[in-house]
Amino acid sequence: MAEKYAKWQVYYFDEVTSTNDIIKNLCTRPNEQYVVCAKKQTNGRGRMGRKWQSLEGNLFFSLALNVDMQSLGMFILMCDLTLCHIIRHLQPTAAVQIKWPNDVLLNNAKVSGMLLEKGPADYLIIGIGVNLIWHPTTSDIAYPTTSLKDTGINITAKQFLKLFLSQFTKNSVLLETKKGCDVLRNQWLGYVKGLGKIVTIHQENKEISGVFKGIDENGYLMLENETGICQIRAGDVFFVEEI
Ligand code: BTN
Repeated sequence: MAEKYAKWQVYYFDEVTSTNDIIKNLCTRPNEQYVVCAKKQTNGRGRMGRKWQSLEGNLFFSLALNVDMQSLGMFILMCDLTLCHIIRHLQPTAAVQIKWPNDVLLNNAKVSGMLLEKGPADYLIIGIGVNLIWHPTTSDIAYPTTSLKDTGINITAKQFLKLFLSQFTKNSVLLETKKGCDVLRNQWLGYVKGLGKIVTIHQENKEISGVFKGIDENGYLMLENETGICQIRAGDVFFVEEI
């Protein structure tokens, strides 16, 4: 049974394979906005085919909504910002950063990740994991991780999800105007790690290095190197210089 929260139909589950899978079967009516949240996932997925460890206590949820593909880049950027805004709201001094494209870092360690997938019809699925009370140990994965609890932020999955939906609704209004998009882009640039530094972007079959110059009006990363300015849509960023 769905709970209604603002424009969202919200479904809660105890255990699912992946909230991204479940939501694909639920988003059947056009022009609705859906949320699926689960206490744990048995087959949580990360980007680039990686696993997302999903034990009870952390937040695992997916959103399904119709997004104008022209503004997809700005939309993703707005989702990143929504997570940063909440963490700063919970702890104003928190050292929060965005690691392009979709990781949120706290004290230089990953606290949240996002997986975008195509849903049925025109639905976009956005799966988000937030480490609330625990995080995988670094011997399991290649990068440092942390949880909100490690920084002294105590919040339940349901409380965080409600803050997310309400902040998301406020931020998405800004996407409707150019002025609003400029506000979001500038806020995003204030959070992103590595701006103005040399970075390497790892894509499936290649690597590109250059100076991280910012993001364009589509939300693509702009990298400057000897070939000029390259627009990058996807990849994993690695920081070459000490930041
Ligand atoms: C990443 O950083 O690699 C993305 C992680 C995304 C994890 C979330 S948890 C909710 C949703 N369901 C999944 O199986 N994955 C996403």
